[in-house]
Amino acid sequence: MVAPVPAPRPVCRTGGDDDHEYMVGLAERTFVDFGDYRMIIEEWLSAPRVQSVVLEDRGRRLGFALVAQHRALGFWRSTSAELVAIALEPRARGRGLGSLLLRAAEDEARSWSAYEMKLHTAIQNRVARSFFHAAGYRVREGRATFYPNGQPALELRRRLS
Ligand SMILES: CC(C)(COP(=O)(O)OP(=O)(O)OC[C@H]1O[C@@H](n2cnc3c(N)ncnc32)[C@H](O)[C@@H]1OP(=O)(O)O)[C@@H](O)C(=O)NCCC(=O)NCCS
Repeated sequence: MVAPVPAPRPVCRTGGDDDHEYMVGLAERTFVDFGDYRMIIEEWLSAPRVQSVVLEDRGRRLGFALVAQHRALGFWRSTSAELVAIALEPRARGRGLGSLLLRAAEDEARSWSAYEMKLHTAIQNRVARSFFHAAGYRVREGRATFYPNGQPALELRRRLS
């Protein structure tokens, strides 16, 4: 009898230049209500210390995350990280893959010894708020921030260490 072969699971890998157009396209489609994300993501991708993580299933890309490293100056201050974008193809949502991608982005930040991950999400984005809350992120009260098209955002944080 032949043992059943387990189906390959989607995997996360470090993004590269070949993924840029994919990430820009998905961000543009996903965040169209919030601003010109083609321009925004292109700017982030060309910024120093921004790392991308791509989720793929048998060579087909299903989503990506972008993490920025914030190096603090000063002897007693630690490096932190910011999740500047995370998005999945609509067909890939709701089956744990966003959580897989978020964990991979957090692992990337830990590899820089970042003690904390922060991010912004729109107050109106109830799915994202629920997603980040389930992953341990909590709201940091403070100054209000806004998306380019004016939607108010919340700042969320989670300790990584
Ligand atoms: C936010 C996003 C990345 C979540 O990815 P996902 O793969 O759908 O999420 P998961 O399946 O890993 O869900 C993890 C948890 O998030 C919460 N969650 C996910 N989808 C949800 C929904 N539609 N409604 C409420 N809670 C939801 C649940 O707590 C879920 O845990 P459970 O499955 O045990 O109930 C995905 O929906 C997405 O790409 N959205 C568009 C882009 C976006 O809004 N990005 C964030 C902006 S900062």
